[in-house]
Amino acid sequence: MEMRQPIDYLWTIRVLMAAKRLATMAMWQSFDRTDEIEAMVDALNKTTLTMQSIPATTLPVVKRQGKRRLKYELAVLGEELVGLIRPNFPHLHWQQNSSITDPDLLNNYAYCELIGPTGHAGSDSVRLGLLLLDRNTHYPLHTHSASEICFVLSGHARFRQSDKPWRSCPMGQFVFHDSNIPHEIQTRDDPALLVYWWRGAVVEQAQLMLNAQSSA
Ligand SMILES: [Fe+2]
Repeated sequence: MEMRQPIDYLWTIRVLMAAKRLATMAMWQSFDRTDEIEAMVDALNKTTLTMQSIPATTLPVVKRQGKRRLKYELAVLGEELVGLIRPNFPHLHWQQNSSITDPDLLNNYAYCELIGPTGHAGSDSVRLGLLLLDRNTHYPLHTHSASEICFVLSGHARFRQSDKPWRSCPMGQFVFHDSNIPHEIQTRDDPALLVYWWRGAVVEQAQLMLNAQSSA
């Protein structure tokens, strides 16, 4: 039987350390922004965490993935982070952007801020979170002032920045989104569990561009 780990200060420090080690792994991929990785690791090193009392909440896609117990394959690089998160999956604060009204999207996506201004552990200099998308889901074009590194922990996602072509990213791949560059995410046959790191103007929320044209 899986033991539930408490969401406490020690747990969030372990999550922070695992996320830092994972971010450095992008150096070994053909990731052309090593300056961003170094800056992200530096921000993770310097942040202070304050535990925030945030209740567990769940959403349809979380329940479905919980039933499947995330048994689909996991990226080897992300094993340490997933090992910390998986026991607490139902005990995290899963939420959605209040601008989204599309019932299909609301049924098929959720995010959780582990560390950040509104996260389980508060930080005003980094955000670290999870994004869960069920299969055949399009997370719409959005932008934010913070720069962002994404990693596909499980499944398969496609990313597109501005008017560039879609990029297919199986688990184990990193993607970088520069500050204020619009980007969107899509899944097809597989669900996807992503981890994202933000640094810079992390207090500013993502702005969805729901009326923008997309070829998704
Ligand atoms: Fe983003």
